[in-house]
Amino acid sequence: MASPVVDKDYLKEIDKARRDLRALISSRDCAPIMLRLAWHDAGTYDAKTKTGGPNGSIRNEEEYTHGSNSGLKKAVDFCEEVKSKHRRITYADLYQLAGVVAVEVTGGPTIDFTPGRKDSKISPKEGRLPDAKRGAPHLRDIFYRMGLSDKDIVALSGAHTLGRAHPERSGFDGPWTQEPLKFDNSYFVELLKGESEGLLKLPSDTALLDDAEFRKYVELYAKDEEAFFRDYAESHKKLSELGFTTS
Ligand code: HEM
Repeated sequence: MASPVVDKDYLKEIDKARRDLRALISSRDCAPIMLRLAWHDAGTYDAKTKTGGPNGSIRNEEEYTHGSNSGLKKAVDFCEEVKSKHRRITYADLYQLAGVVAVEVTGGPTIDFTPGRKDSKISPKEGRLPDAKRGAPHLRDIFYRMGLSDKDIVALSGAHTLGRAHPERSGFDGPWTQEPLKFDNSYFVELLKGESEGLLKLPSDTALLDDAEFRKYVELYAKDEEAFFRDYAESHKKLSELGFTTS
């Protein structure tokens, strides 16, 4: 599909959609699932073949029914409500805008957003997203394939400051932090504290403690929220623009 023409009108629609998303996300307390939708649309990117990525393909039944996307149909439907009012905006832009707004309305950093992503009807094969049961080498395989770095892996894992795992979706259960609707650095604080009654740590979360290169960022972000916000905003922007060039 062709790139959308990002003219004055398109930018105006983006602005309106941003407001609608703010209202929808606040009234339904759905920031976590909206952020997860943005991440799962983008996180399929393969830098070598330039396939996957933030291209709206997660709206295809073939893709939202992948095991790793369990529960995300709900977020696809929420976004459809906004899309129906702003038809010109691509799904690819809308999902990434939803991710940016989800972080913003829960108190996280402002993430720069550039519109103009193309939609794709082609979904990647299942298996490009990380497996929560695996450790550091697997995380590196997956994120390096996208063209992301160790710092990006740790900063972006901090998104687990929001939301929770659901037994019927992933088989895991519980939130990572005491306030799962607040975006702050508590994911890293809890990770360093170790086991905590009622809080979740996935094997892929604790992998960040066992690897010296990862751990250095966990320690930094736990003690310096400003550093976390700065790096998170940068890494999230990279994630939201994988394979995206404005031309
Ligand atoms: C939830 C795995 C990275 C954002 C989850 C869940 C799992 C998971 C198993 C629970 C799903 C459920 O049961 O509903 C992983 C793994 C990662 C990773 C293995 C590798 C590092 C990320 C990244 C982001 C993110 C990079 C965003 C930038 C979220 C959010 C939720 C979540 C916001 C909560 C969803 C909700 O409350 O419904 N993740 N994730 N995750 N993930 Fe991740």
